[in-house]
Amino acid sequence: MRHFRVGVIGAGRVGAVLAAALRAAGHEIVAAAGESDASRGRIEAMLPGTPGAKPSDVARAADLLLLTVPDDMLPNVVAMLSASGAIHEGQFVVHTSGRHGLAVLADAAAVGARPIALHPAMTFTGTEVDLPRLREAIFGVTADAAERPVTEQLVADLGGRPMWVDEDKRTLYHAGLAHGANHLVTLVTEAMEMLAAAGGDNPADTLRPLLNAALDNALDQGDAALTGPIVRGDVETVRAHLVEMRASAPQTVPSYLALARATLSRVVTDGRLLPIRGAKLAQVLDAASSDDVAPSSVRPLTRLGRTIRR
Ligand SMILES: NC(=O)c1ccc[n+]([C@@H]2O[C@H](COP(=O)([O-])OP(=O)(O)OC[C@H]3O[C@@H](n4cnc5c(N)ncnc54)[C@H](OP(=O)(O)O)[C@@H]3O)[C@@H](O)[C@H]2O)c1
Repeated sequence: MRHFRVGVIGAGRVGAVLAAALRAAGHEIVAAAGESDASRGRIEAMLPGTPGAKPSDVARAADLLLLTVPDDMLPNVVAMLSASGAIHEGQFVVHTSGRHGLAVLADAAAVGARPIALHPAMTFTGTEVDLPRLREAIFGVTADAAERPVTEQLVADLGGRPMWVDEDKRTLYHAGLAHGANHLVTLVTEAMEMLAAAGGDNPADTLRPLLNAALDNALDQGDAALTGPIVRGDVETVRAHLVEMRASAPQTVPSYLALARATLSRVVTDGRLLPIRGAKLAQVLDAASSDDVAPSSVRPLTRLGRTIRR
């Protein structure tokens, strides 16, 4: 196993945690960059004893450079450090962006550095609670053949497993993760608001067993896991939902309609719902969308005990 002298540029939520995990696996963290109080605090808490330094000094000191800056900063950081000679020949340069592949590291490759895209498909807090979550996490990785062994070693050292992603599929890979994980948060939050408005005093407790089961079933069985009024063709139930939601939770009508349409399309396409039944459901959804409530007429809704304005 190869041990690296690792430099971290961006001691943010991801940088501090991955560096701590690499240190635990036997690598040396030579320096970390981060100016804000939050980043300095993470260096102290997660990487005690690691010197703070400016990005160019971190890059010069490392034989493996971890670039854990916001996605939009990455091109400039790579360009600046490559042009100044801080990123150097033979150095491994690793970023953790999901969207970007190797192209964003082209300036580094041009000076002889060895680029790797290594994205943990995980959400981070920047604290110790993230460390055990890395075990069994999947890392979306893109690297040329020469860098594959080191990429595999890094993922193994972090406790995860690699998923190889082609350069031209990075954005699709990342969109899939964002659609699943980020939009799930919006969906669950909306469901909790509706249950609170229906009088539930602990919507999270009500939803947790149901949603855990639905998530497990969907991950195991895909479309076959679907239950509920759309796959049953219960047109009147869907109509009643929409009438009630327009009265009591109007801000959720657009996402309900969008997801109901997507669900309907899938169950008709795969033959679980007769097209005639599907057409009736589509009529109900179309009628509800043409009556969409204008944002200005949306009433404030109690969200988890708080009154919020939309
Ligand atoms: N958060 C997640 O759950 C997650 C999950 C997977 C992958 N990622 C990816 O990991 C990367 C880092 O995300 P993050 O959530 O850890 O970000 P973050 O918490 O916002 O931290 C960003 C770090 O980059 C530093 N930074 C910002 N602009 C910089 C610049 N121009 N030059 C040098 N350093 C700069 C910040 O320093 P200051 O604090 O001093 O501003 C901070 O230490 C991104 O590519 C993101 O897509 C994030």
